[in-house]
Amino acid sequence: MDGKKLAGEKAVEYVKEGMILGLGTGSTVYWSLLKLAEMVKKGLDIKGVPTSQNTEKLAIELGIPLVSLSSINQVDLTIDGADEVNPNFELIKGGGGALLREKMVASISQSFIIVVDETKYVTNLGEFPLPVEIVPFSWELTSKQIGALGCEPKLRSKNNTPFITDNGNYILDCYFEKIQDASKLNATLNMIPGVVENGLFVHLADTIVIGKRNGSVDILFK
Ligand code: A5P
Repeated sequence: MDGKKLAGEKAVEYVKEGMILGLGTGSTVYWSLLKLAEMVKKGLDIKGVPTSQNTEKLAIELGIPLVSLSSINQVDLTIDGADEVNPNFELIKGGGGALLREKMVASISQSFIIVVDETKYVTNLGEFPLPVEIVPFSWELTSKQIGALGCEPKLRSKNNTPFITDNGNYILDCYFEKIQDASKLNATLNMIPGVVENGLFVHLADTIVIGKRNGSVDILFK
């Protein structure tokens, strides 16, 4: 069974009439969006706030009505994927490069549901390289400062040129191996000039939906 599909579809059960919904990014939330589109076709009245240009494009294709983040103060529920989740509901996100908008939307969400397959539920964060969005100006300096925290930053590239985020920035994928204190690292990284945002999501998720190979789904509540 596809754990991503199971989790993505399950999470949509928490959607209610009239909600403003944060629409996450990635191949797990993809399944949520397909399900949501079916519900909209059947008459469900919701509005979505996309967390990336890719999700915006997909939502438009699927006929999901959208509202811009700048015109609202609060999101009722966000469904999003993650690259790693630990038992404290701390996350690494940004494998797809959408971490900044994802964190902005998550930060004003009343409820934040994470959808993952079982391979992403880990004891310690850090095996997945932590994505950090940085401004392109003198990125080498920012990279050195991040590296001094005890990781090996690597500039993300696509077709041999730097990967550019939806916000016109670069991403450093930072190999920490094991992140002991996600809260502290989150704050420390965001204090470095040149860092726009990092992929550690702390104190944001309240529900984790885990799709498993055997066809079952675990739902963890904070
Ligand atoms: C996008 O930048 C990410 O935060 C994704 O939400 C995360 O990488 C999970 O993606 P998948 O669901 O495609 O694995």
